[in-house]
Amino acid sequence: MGVSNYLIRRMTVRDLDEVMAIEAQVFSLPWSKQSYMGELKNQFATYLVCDKEAEVAGYVGIWVVFEEAHITNVAVAPKWQGQGLGRVLMEEAEKVARSKNALRILLEVRPSNHAALSLYKSLGYMETGRRKEYYSDNGEDAIVMTKLLF
Ligand SMILES: CC(C)(COP(=O)(O)OP(=O)(O)OC[C@H]1O[C@@H](n2cnc3c(N)ncnc32)[C@H](O)[C@@H]1OP(=O)(O)O)[C@@H](O)C(=O)NCCC(=O)NCCS
Repeated sequence: MGVSNYLIRRMTVRDLDEVMAIEAQVFSLPWSKQSYMGELKNQFATYLVCDKEAEVAGYVGIWVVFEEAHITNVAVAPKWQGQGLGRVLMEEAEKVARSKNALRILLEVRPSNHAALSLYKSLGYMETGRRKEYYSDNGEDAIVMTKLLF
């Protein structure tokens, strides 16, 4: 099932109130508006949003530093989940990494986050490590996943 009628574009400061609302709904450790303001000025970072029906439905962030890219965040608003937008956002982030000649993309994910794990596996990410007690809210480990781009 392909999702339609969406627009992928760069995130701007004007999006941050909507981004904050989604952060609060989907993450137990939401980032602050200040963190996003800093990220939007970060020369290594690219933040994309997906618009649906004139609202921000989801977003993704990626850092590319030389050959290594890192997904910093990906989220889809609950009302838009399960329609393929998460996959679209991850594919768009991968295009950014490839366009900047990255050779691999890394990300961290909670072992309990079955939806995200399933998405990443289906896109070709593989478990390459663990970070012990990475998440400060519940002490959960992070699974490190990597996708090679060559
Ligand atoms: C993870 C997330 C971004 C996925 O976005 P989405 O738009 O709902 O996902 P999609 O509709 O594109 O689904 C893509 C794949 O993800 C997986 N997936 C999505 N929702 C799932 C669910 N509830 N259970 C299991 N797998 C799921 C499936 O593999 C799916 O592929 P399929 O449709 O071919 O089965 C979204 O659930 C979300 O924002 N979660 C909260 C924030 C978060 O956890 N971010 C990741 C932090 S590491």
